Amino acid sequence: MERYVRIFDTTLRDGEQTPGVSLTPEEKFEIGVQLDKLGVDVIEAGFPSASEGERKAVRELAHAGLKAEICALTRAIKSDIDAALSCDVDSIHTFISTSEVQMKYALNITPEQVLEKSFEAVQYIKDHGVICEFSPMDATRTDFNFLRKVCMTAEEAGADRINIPDTVGIMNPDSMRRLISRLRETLKVPLSVHCHDDFGLAVANSLAGVDGGAAQVHVTVNGLGERAGNAALEEVVMGLHMIYKLRTGVNTRLLYETSKLVSRLTGVPIQPNKAIVGENAFAHESGIHTKGVVIKPLTFEPISPELVGRRRKLIAGKLAGRHGIRAELREAGIHPTEKQLKEIVKRVKELGDKGKTVTDADLFAIARAVMGGVSEERAVDLIDLAVITGIRVIPTASVKLMLDEKEYVAAETGVGPVDAAIKAIQKITDNLVNVRLREYRLEALTGGSDAVAEVVIKVEDKYGNIVSARGAREDIVMASVEAMIEGINKLLLKSRKRRSERPQ
Ligand code: KIV
Ligand code: ZN
Repeated sequence: MERYVRIFDTTLRDGEQTPGVSLTPEEKFEIGVQLDKLGVDVIEAGFPSASEGERKAVRELAHAGLKAEICALTRAIKSDIDAALSCDVDSIHTFISTSEVQMKYALNITPEQVLEKSFEAVQYIKDHGVICEFSPMDATRTDFNFLRKVCMTAEEAGADRINIPDTVGIMNPDSMRRLISRLRETLKVPLSVHCHDDFGLAVANSLAGVDGGAAQVHVTVNGLGERAGNAALEEVVMGLHMIYKLRTGVNTRLLYETSKLVSRLTGVPIQPNKAIVGENAFAHESGIHTKGVVIKPLTFEPISPELVGRRRKLIAGKLAGRHGIRAELREAGIHPTEKQLKEIVKRVKELGDKGKTVTDADLFAIARAVMGGVSEERAVDLIDLAVITGIRVIPTASVKLMLDEKEYVAAETGVGPVDAAIKAIQKITDNLVNVRLREYRLEALTGGSDAVAEVVIKVEDKYGNIVSARGAREDIVMASVEAMIEGINKLLLKSRKRRSERPQ
């Protein structure tokens, strides 16, 4: 049976040390409950000696009856440990600097004093019947023989686990694996790793630590933490499960909702290309990829999105192909004909070429416009459009239309560029079909200033026939013109059909 790796979550402690993050006791409680639901083994709830609010938060979680072990962090100082004990936690994680640079400049104490304080702190915690995890802070920059000595001292004093912090993130997977294997040759207690991401190696180093024999990993949701952060829980867990084939207690299907909750409550956004929980982690854009995943997801998906509580996203962009766009539309219950699909793909690529990201809403607006508008037969088509507008300029539009295979040009002024363009069109088509605009709605504006605008109109001819038409473009004037031309086409074709059906 595969080895079980314990997940020690420190989102509420090291994660809260993320610059700019400060959680209220209520927010900490909400995250703690979610972490418990997720299935982590330990929740490091906070640093009780820091403030009354911190003690309240840690105490509330300790009293919440959660399955996870509730842990508090302390320096190797009696008053810190007393503050943690007053919160009724299951375990105390106590730490002291062991690297030369930190002993000298951060604590101003000797190695002998470090050994003494470590022993006393662990013994004091154990005397109170609480689980004790000991951390020699900056272990990875500590002289190996001294590190081993401190760890042996903590073990002798009764520590239940020893955590090896890579406090400034300077390890690589190879050195981490070797360090843990070497320490295991002497130490009997289970070892843990705590990796920071200063060189972007926190996850790789954590996995290597486990490979070297660590029984536990310290992680934070979304990789929050001091400076560049800690190893990301979601990445470590998925790496352990899928690459190393090891077990944890984490229900991976809750990873995404946990990440979202933490992002919302801490106010730290998730980068789109972040593994597992980033918006793009399960999005495919290139035609080759979308076609592949539609036929067989394994082609370009190493993790199935459902496994981490996500859904696959096929993105419509200039690299998109028919397969991907058809599949995305099908998922939304939209079934274009081949001809309509071709037009939708063409418009999506045009937008992509202009540097626009085509959102789902954009794609659906384009599809509605094409499917509601592209008549098989067309009497009127737009060839050219130019508009002038400004502060001291009368909005003017000139249009060139193809009407029954002949080109016509007209110009008009209006209260705005849309009004001017519609009047110019009417000037050309009035002889054939006298169309009045009954209703005009700008129905959907998606995204930012380069968003796709969806215009929905109702037009009426002189016989009282009313049709509705849509246009969807990233330019409001173009969307309006497109809708108007579709409306005119519909009315023209209707009246021609009626005429042809009339008895001769
Ligand atoms: O990074 C670190 O060394 C820590 C200790 C408190 C374990 O967070
Ligand atoms: Zn840390």
